[in-house]
Amino acid sequence: MKKLIVFISGRGSNMKRIIEETQNGILKGLAEVVLVFSDKPDAPGLDIARQMGIETETLSSKGLKRKEYDEEVSKIIEKYPFDFLILAGYMRILSPEFVRKYPKKIINIHPADTRRHQGLDAYKWAFENRLPETKITVHYVDEGMDTGEIIAQKTVDLRGCKTLEEVEQCGLVEEHKLYSKIIKKLCYN
Ligand code: GRF
Repeated sequence: MKKLIVFISGRGSNMKRIIEETQNGILKGLAEVVLVFSDKPDAPGLDIARQMGIETETLSSKGLKRKEYDEEVSKIIEKYPFDFLILAGYMRILSPEFVRKYPKKIINIHPADTRRHQGLDAYKWAFENRLPETKITVHYVDEGMDTGEIIAQKTVDLRGCKTLEEVEQCGLVEEHKLYSKIIKKLCYN
């Protein structure tokens, strides 16, 4: 069984799906979530994780520099031996030192083609540019912002979406399916 740590900052819908898949779906018997960590002690996803029987830890970043904060995070997560660190809506940029500590172990999902759009508001970018389709990307995390090696992409048809909310809804449905599918592949490597 591969051990996963999931990092979140907010609602945690990707996290929830991954936990469901480990408990009763395509990741059952292959992977387990050993910890959900959040930089936001009030992230709604934390309650969901706890209700699903998953251990949680949080650490507020107030007053800490990026490197110091990540050193503290390392101390926390190293209590839970893990194979992959899954970023699922984790809104902090990781320090280079942290990234270098876990080569090819940190995975992220980005709601756009990372070669075309990096950083926040990727669905808004797709909506405002009236893109007929966008590409969800799962990638390894390197020291840049959404620049790591691409593991997989999934095209999402946006032609039927009339509002930003609809674009997000269409994209999230695909994110939820793609992330666990790719984690499954990584578990076999
Ligand atoms: C998702 O769109 C993900 O791709 C992006 O942040 C959002 C997180 O949503 N990195 P959720 O917390 O998983 O619902």
